[in-house]
This record gives sequence, C-alpha cells and structure tokens, in this order.
Amino acid sequence: MALAARGIDKAFAGVHALRGVDFEVRAGEVVALVGENGAGKSTLLQILSGSLAADAGQVRVDGEAVTFRGPADAMARGIARVAQEPQQCLQLSIAAAVFLGAELRRGWLLDDAAMVAASRTLLARLGLDVDPQQPVGSLATGQRQLLEIARALRAEAKVLILDEPTSSLTDVEAERLFAIVDDLRAAGTAIVYVSHRLGEVQRLADRVVGLRDGRNSGELARDQISHQSIVGLMVGREFAHATRQPRAPGEVLLSVRGLVTSAWPQARVDLQVRAGEVVGVAGLLGAGRSEILRALFGVDAPLAGTIEVAGQPLHGRGPAAAAAAGLALVPEDRQHQGLVLGHSVADNLSLPTLHRRGWRVAPQRERELAAHWCRELDVRAASPALRVGSLSGGNQQKVVLGKWLAAAPRVLLLDEPTRGVDVGARGEIYARLDALAAAGLAVLFVSSELEEVFALADRVLVVHQGRITGALPRDRFSEQTIMLLATGQSLDSDEVPA
Ligand SMILES: Nc1ncnc2c1ncn2[C@@H]1O[C@H](COP(=O)(O)OP(=O)(O)OP(=O)(O)O)[C@@H](O)[C@H]1O
Ligand SMILES: [Mg+2]
Repeated sequence: MALAARGIDKAFAGVHALRGVDFEVRAGEVVALVGENGAGKSTLLQILSGSLAADAGQVRVDGEAVTFRGPADAMARGIARVAQEPQQCLQLSIAAAVFLGAELRRGWLLDDAAMVAASRTLLARLGLDVDPQQPVGSLATGQRQLLEIARALRAEAKVLILDEPTSSLTDVEAERLFAIVDDLRAAGTAIVYVSHRLGEVQRLADRVVGLRDGRNSGELARDQISHQSIVGLMVGREFAHATRQPRAPGEVLLSVRGLVTSAWPQARVDLQVRAGEVVGVAGLLGAGRSEILRALFGVDAPLAGTIEVAGQPLHGRGPAAAAAAGLALVPEDRQHQGLVLGHSVADNLSLPTLHRRGWRVAPQRERELAAHWCRELDVRAASPALRVGSLSGGNQQKVVLGKWLAAAPRVLLLDEPTRGVDVGARGEIYARLDALAAAGLAVLFVSSELEEVFALADRVLVVHQGRITGALPRDRFSEQTIMLLATGQSLDSDEVPA
C-alpha cells in the first residue's frame, strides 16, 4: 500500500471534521474521494500530506507508520498535494514558484536558466503557454491551478494528491490533465483525486471512497461506479432534479456596446441581456471571459465602450458605481476578490448591502440576513459567527453567492458560480438562479463546464481571443459547435448571428 490511514480523527474549534476515517491508495491506482461540501475531504488530504496533524489515528507510507512534521516532510517521503485553494506568492516568478523549496543550483548559486527552461517544459505539458519569468500574479485562476499541478509534477511524487484540480479549468485543459493522470497511473504513481465534477470521477477513478459528515460512507469498485452510485455515497439520498421554469425575456437590462478590455485591446464586445434571461459565456481558459465581466463591473477599467443598465448609461467608474446602478459580480477568485476571509460569515454576507446603505447594518438585521442566506443556499457552517476562511471551499462559494444575492441586484454577473460546490447544492443554486430570472433578473454567467451552461442558459455567447465568435440559442446548443467557436473556427452554417 503506497499510502494508508487508519482511524483518523480531527476536530477544529467547534467542528468535528473527521471521525475514525480509514483510507488507502495503492501504487498505480486512482482513488477518487467524494463527499458533500464540508464532508472533510480537504482535511483528510491535508493530514495525508503533512499539512495538518491528526488528533488520533495513524498514517502509513509503504507500510511504515509515519508522523509528518510538515508538508516538506511528506514531500521527502514522496507525497505531493495540489491544494484546493493554493496559497501562492503572487510576486514570485512562475519558475520560482514551480521550484519553491526544491531550487536547482549550480554550486552555490541558483540556476535560474535551468529552472525557467524546466518550468516551460512542465507548463507546456499542461498546455499553459506563458513566460516562466512573469510573476504568478499575472496568471488567471485556472492558470494558477495549472501552475500548482506543474509544481506537483516537478516533484515526481510517488503519491499525488489532487484536491479539485479542475475546478477552474475548461473541458479542454481538464482533458490534458486526465491524459497526464493516465500516464502517471501507468507509471505506478498512486493518485488521490477529489472533484465535484462527477463525470471526471467516472472517467478517472479505479475506486471511489465516500465521506459523509466526517465519516467513511462506503466505497465503489471500478464496475460499480456511476453517477447515481457516487451521489448515493455522498448524500445517501436521492434528490429531485429541478425543472426549468418557462421564461419570457422582457426589456433589455444590460446593454454593452464596443467594450474593449485591456486584456484584448483589439477586440470589441457587444452584448445584451434582457430581464428574465440567463446568458452563458463559454470559451477556453484565457479567452477573455472573466475580463468581460470584470470590465462590466468596473473592477478593471475598460479601455472603451458604453454600458447601459435598464437604458441608463453607467455613471462613474469602479465597482461602487456599478453596484449603485444595480449590477453585482460574483468573482471567480473567492479568496482574493470575493470574501474577507478573516471576517465572519455574517459580516461577509451583509457587506454589499451595508455598502449600499453607507452605514453599518444593525447587528440584529445582520444576524437575520445571515440566517436567511445560510438557509437559502445551504451554507454548512456551525454558526454564522465563524470566520468564513474556516469554511470548506464549496461553502465559501455559497457565501460569495449569498452576499451578492442579498444585495438584490437587477443584473447579476457570475464568474464560475458553482466552483467547488457539490452536486446537491449545485442543483439548489441552479433552481435559485432560475427563479431569480423568472422574477425579472438578468443573469450573465461564465462557466468552464458546458454541462452547467446547458443546465442554466437560455443563450450562450462563445468567446475566443476576447471576441464573441458566436451566439447560440438554447435549441442550438451543442458541444461541438461551441468547441468550434471557442477555438476560433468558423461554422459552415448560419449559426452565428451578430
Ligand atoms: N482551519 C479550519 N478551522 C476551522 N474549521 C475548519 C478548518 N478547516 C476545515 N474546517 C471545517 O472542517 C469541516 C470539513 O472541511 P473540509 O474543508 O475538509 O471539507 P471538504 O469536504 O473539503 O469540502 P468542500 O467540498 O467544500 O471543499 C468543515 O465543517 C469546515 O468548516
Ligand atoms: Mg475541500
């Protein structure tokens, strides 16, 4: 057994995250670990990779009991982990980040040239074509995720632990990662894989291990793995699929003409979203999807263009002006842009509401608001007074969503709205967005998962190199068409209305 854990227990202040958990992975095996948001997956992975100490239980590497003093210690035993929310130093160069803690040297000196060259090769393998001398901060969320994976590949670990490695990747980049996972498995690497994208779990896993409320909930052998059986391990119950409510789009709520973002100065973006309409934005990593949303909300100043909300041109610049006009943006990078991690769940939920009023909401009102949105979005937190940074990744995502829904916007901009959210909660979020649209909200969302676009959107805009290369109504959605448009190829038919 490459890596095994027995009877693992772990409690944080007020939360018993793991109780008597057993887990093991063999060389040449991919084990998927599944469970709802807050089930304890990341906590277990942190223990397996030396980032957290268990309160009780034992970890064995190749049959030998070990006590890790830290991640470097685990790394020395051949265990590498790609964290769900990597803590990256944004000022560091990409090459330095890839080799952090394992710098190449020539004699006493750092061998920068060798590290740059090796980083370039590693990143190219993952399909990331960037200059390794650039700072990490210049990368988008999905690219940083690939950087973290490159870092783990560089370590040539015996056990590779991947905690939601694809949550910000589109299907194309994810497919590249799957090919690498296949190669590593064939070469005898033991792999632990966590994902809320159940299709990936089915594609990759030799075995699926379930966690529910911090306990083992069973496991599935290769021939038992299906969407149904995985969901069964996670939630232990079936849930109804929400049906889409019929919608009749009304007046144009968001109208954008000639928008130019600094990321793609040659491209002009024109788009409209009506009341009651849900529009999806698809495209590859780096296509400029997030940049469009960020420019609309004034996070990055657009170079040109006019933005109208309900027929009124946007006055002023920046997010405050956009919020005042009725826009809201749920950003992709919740840790840096979406949340104040050191503050409570309740504080975070009431932030935009408080912002709009210009004074502090009464504590009583804040408590009510927090209780309401925690219930609505099924935020699994022992108390709204907890630090939001202590919540599991998926639960943090629900707080970012709730924070902006509480502000009752007219136009909702969402960047990867369900990143890291489990299947059950995802269904609830879809139902909620559906209901908001039915009530007259305009929704524009970016998603890397076509499945999500198909589930939610009335219309999809495909972006390639900063331009909208196609707009497809719901009855013309197809994976193939979207892929063609996303890679800048033209369609033979008339499927590209302006
Ligand atoms: N540093 C911490 N301090 C306090 N509580 C924590 C901390 N880390 C995790 N928890 C709590 O432990 C529980 C398990 O969290 P964990 O992050 O392991 O869940 P997860 O299964 O990875 O969920 P997700 O799918 O949302 O990533 C949660 O209730 C979480 O709030
Ligand atoms: Mg997690």
